[in-house]
Amino acid sequence: MTAAVFSRTVTRGEDGALSVGGVDVRELAGRFGTPLYVVDEEDMRARAAAFRDSFTTAFGRHGAKVDVYYASKAFLSSKVARWMRAEDLCMDVASGGELELALRGGMPAAHIGLHGNNKSDAELRRALEVGVGRIIVDSFTEIETLDAIAREMGTVAPVLVRVTTGVHAGGHEYIATSHEDQKFGLSLAAGAAFEALVECHDAEGIDLRGIHTHIGSQILSLEAFQESAERMLGLRAAFRAEVGVDLPEVDLGGGYAIRYTPHGEELTPADAAHGMAEAVAAAVAKVGGTWPHLSIEPGRAIAGPAGMTLYRVGVVKRVGLEDGGERQYVAVDGGMSDNMRTITYGAEYTATVASRLSDAEPALSRVVGKHCESGDIVVRDVDLPHDTARGDLLAVPATGAYGRVMASNYNSVLRPAVVAVRDGEAELLVRRDTLEDLFSWDVAPD
Ligand code: LLP
Repeated sequence: MTAAVFSRTVTRGEDGALSVGGVDVRELAGRFGTPLYVVDEEDMRARAAAFRDSFTTAFGRHGAKVDVYYASKAFLSSKVARWMRAEDLCMDVASGGELELALRGGMPAAHIGLHGNNKSDAELRRALEVGVGRIIVDSFTEIETLDAIAREMGTVAPVLVRVTTGVHAGGHEYIATSHEDQKFGLSLAAGAAFEALVECHDAEGIDLRGIHTHIGSQILSLEAFQESAERMLGLRAAFRAEVGVDLPEVDLGGGYAIRYTPHGEELTPADAAHGMAEAVAAAVAKVGGTWPHLSIEPGRAIAGPAGMTLYRVGVVKRVGLEDGGERQYVAVDGGMSDNMRTITYGAEYTATVASRLSDAEPALSRVVGKHCESGDIVVRDVDLPHDTARGDLLAVPATGAYGRVMASNYNSVLRPAVVAVRDGEAELLVRRDTLEDLFSWDVAPD
């Protein structure tokens, strides 16, 4: 029933247990402990390749070039940076820490774009020092600061200006980013974006490469992407008309929706690529000028479906409901510390018993964590077998993006490991926290 949500190498064996990447989940749980994030390497790399190939083909038809930047905020380890490099992707980072991990994995600095609405001087300096390919500036303050730092360092910063197009799309309000009343970008409608372009063009320490937008996350609507592409091309045309320069680069951001539950929908790379190429072609035909070098920044759509979380079931409780029904509360050994998305965005997930097949009747269930908070829910509504019991392994699919990277040590729990599986082999990407880690942060009394 949940097959469509799990990554591509997930199968259920004859004895009813799941395996992923050719490794039985019981073996993974035994070797690495639970909770455990499991990344299906083949799946994640195939998704990266699908974006690369679909966009290259769709835009290539018009003779245009596209780069795919993996938005590493979705999930990053240095080995992941190595995979993305091997798949010929570039990488977008949003902090000094992400920048260092990307470099550690061998991602060439020239293939890295640095984001952030409030980059520190140290982050800007480091980006210039290592030679990142682009810095996406987000404010007039940043333009002035970056210009000054670059001139002082005797270098020139390659820059894209982040534009707020006014296209409002995506899921929860907290993950929609291109409506006007929020912290990111420079407004197209109010003229701030244009003004910022002129400032960058005139700044000695800045090499203005183009414009960037990101309209939100978990977006299903192709029309939203098309509308934003049209507005961006319109801004580029206006800049050419006034300043006489065809900006070479246009980045249309990430945000492609994935399927979290069997009823969920996704925007596939092929559909997105085709639709966006058509929109850009129409806009270029309308406003004239050359085709820009395009780029996109998918994060969730590459990492999300490739990952699952394995939990060990502890306490199972039956609670009577007002309507006379009953809810089975299945408590697992993690919760909001390893998956912040349910409590933060009301995100929906599904779950299945992973260590065995059950022929018991399905029961209306809620998967909850072990934290001291009633909102500590992993899966709000799911049918799980009536005989779900302590010791069972539970798998929650589609947790590869914004899971481990948003994990916390709430209640001093130890954050889970992340393990990659492929062709029957498992390898650690991120090790589990230890008690020594907790003690190393804590300053003990004398
Ligand atoms: N590019 C920029 C500039 C972004 O800000 C983001 C996401 C992306 C690309 C990648 O978006 P994606 O393709 O992954 O949707 N924690 C939230 C998501 C926050 C997204 C922030 N920016 C969640 O768990 O849903």
